[in-house]
Amino acid sequence: MRLRTHAVAKYSLFFSLSFAILNLLVSSAAAQSSGKEHPWMNASLSPDERASMVVKEMTLDEKISMLHGTGMAGLSPMSPSAIHSNGGAGYVPAISRLSIPAIQMSVAAYGVRNSGENGRYSTALPSDIAGAATWDMEGAYAYGALIGRELRAQGFNMSLGGGVNLTREPRNGRTFEYMGEDPVLAGKMVGSVMKGLQAQHVLGDIKHYALNDQESGRNAVNVNIDERAARESDLLAFEIALQESDAAAFMCSYNRVHGDYACENKHLLTDVLKKDWNFKGFVLSDWGAAHSAAKASAAGMDHEEPGWIFFGDELKKAVEAGTVSQAELDDHVHRILRAMFATGVIDDPPQKSVVDAMGGFEVARRIEEQAIVLLKNDGALLPLDASKVHSIVIIGPHADVGMISGGGSAQVDPPGGNAIMPPGKGQTRWLEPMWFPTSPLKSVRAKTAGSDVQFDSGADPAKAAALAKSADVTIVFAYQWESEGMDLPSLSLPENQDELIAKVAAANPHTVVVVESGGPVTMPWAGKVSAILEAWFAGSSGSDAVANVLFGVVNPSAKLPVTFPRSEADLPHPTIVQPPPESIPNYRNHDVWKQIAAGLAPFQVTYSEGVKVGYKWYDAEKKPVLFPFGYGLSYTTYSYSNLRVTTGKTPRVTFTVANTGNRAGAEVAEVYASLPASASEPPKRLV
Ligand code: BGC
Repeated sequence: MRLRTHAVAKYSLFFSLSFAILNLLVSSAAAQSSGKEHPWMNASLSPDERASMVVKEMTLDEKISMLHGTGMAGLSPMSPSAIHSNGGAGYVPAISRLSIPAIQMSVAAYGVRNSGENGRYSTALPSDIAGAATWDMEGAYAYGALIGRELRAQGFNMSLGGGVNLTREPRNGRTFEYMGEDPVLAGKMVGSVMKGLQAQHVLGDIKHYALNDQESGRNAVNVNIDERAARESDLLAFEIALQESDAAAFMCSYNRVHGDYACENKHLLTDVLKKDWNFKGFVLSDWGAAHSAAKASAAGMDHEEPGWIFFGDELKKAVEAGTVSQAELDDHVHRILRAMFATGVIDDPPQKSVVDAMGGFEVARRIEEQAIVLLKNDGALLPLDASKVHSIVIIGPHADVGMISGGGSAQVDPPGGNAIMPPGKGQTRWLEPMWFPTSPLKSVRAKTAGSDVQFDSGADPAKAAALAKSADVTIVFAYQWESEGMDLPSLSLPENQDELIAKVAAANPHTVVVVESGGPVTMPWAGKVSAILEAWFAGSSGSDAVANVLFGVVNPSAKLPVTFPRSEADLPHPTIVQPPPESIPNYRNHDVWKQIAAGLAPFQVTYSEGVKVGYKWYDAEKKPVLFPFGYGLSYTTYSYSNLRVTTGKTPRVTFTVANTGNRAGAEVAEVYASLPASASEPPKRLV
């Protein structure tokens, strides 16, 4: 719960408009024009009634056409109809005779992807894990709503975002795309993002279902975990996100779980998702994660992406031969149509327009300001008083021009290209770090008219330390890049930055470190610097948000959604299990998609720590940490009192939070519960 406080405790809760209510308000030109011949265009009928009416009218070929994408170089052959794609990752052609529009999908984890190559623009929000650090469901709703608006402005009606895999393995290269290590926080936050997104009449998806917690060997790895532990950790995050949002789709992941690929895993897709959780939407495969027709169909996969290796002719033949029943086929189609009616993408199709770039900067800044975690502030060095600080040295790779962003399919393209290249030269390329043109140097200078603000890249630590020595304050911008398609070799900062920070801190006792990372990093220098801010991958307005916190325009209020361990040796698994050569796809081969589709040799990863993800592990194993989950400082102070617990079926906890300092602030109040010892659970869990 996030509380905004003034001098004396005073708080308000924010409730988001339910997406269901918004759906009732939908009306459309499409519905009015074809209402007579297409009775399912009557928006007063339920999504299920409308979907059933359409399914009755469809031919077998039309049904099959809804169950697969139209291709992507490297992962499947291309269909000629892909020419009508809007330039996103996935495209399902319209069925015009039935007034069913195309599904235009774009990856949109922290903003709309591929905008650069399509000559468009998108806001980069702070990475998803930064969103989680706000603990602000209202902010998460705004996060999703902005993505939804920008998707529609660019002609898309489906988002591929909603990553909710737990930070079970913090070196996972996609940690920045997810919402931390706790299932309640991650589930609630991703659910709110989905609500905000779907309220814009865009199909939302939650991914990567499930236990896709490392990138190394993701197409082959077989995950082993005890069922109870899975249900109380990784799966619980998905369950809560679904309950919160009624998301249109779930994306089944690349990996295997207990021997079966996630996309043909009946237990995960049917028993858990569709039966236990009553999921009404559709399951689509991750790109190249499908491995069969009849088995996947029976297991509960509804749609194959990006091509039709299995859910094209092969599925059609299976239906004709009766190995896949008509009812099973109809259920897949029904789920997709139902989701389209329920989210309003049929009644209210997207209208292309110019993205509200300025509005996007504003939202991105506001969220980042709430996401920056103040980890250390010795001697109240922060906030800096611009009238008293006469000389500042900014140090760090590229801190003169930009801030780093998260890579892979989530990569949002910066305006003007990569900030560390000449304008226009920096295309987004797979596995190449992309710097956004949000300059810490400029933003700090803007706050300090009259002060001397100098910059050093830190390439030569001794030179940087010499410059830092005489400054009133030194601010080091450190980074650790993350991307899909790789895991981190360790949690250490790259490029010799640990040595740089240690040298600068030794030269100047007033050293502040701002960390740009997608997850926890190790900080061997933590005891030597005065202040530390975790800024995550900070998005389009990152440097202004950081400057606002540094200079006290904003009082930090974020709390860590992940534990920062002291070292990798304290993680449940000191190293990430690497795939043997036969489990790695050969991307130099044009037919690599065939190799992936056929299935790569499995290798085993066993999550023997079970439910003990993140803080539950460190608590249970009594391992001290650098900064715990839920931690974060403020420029003011709070007191907690009057704790009361009412027991019963729905226990209630009430308490008073008072702002005891002299600055307005916001406080995230966290409640943890413990089960009786007989439950053999970790000491505490966030409730
Ligand atoms: C990623 C998905 C993404 C898809 C489409 C895959 O590589 O794992 O998260 O949605 O690509 O780009």
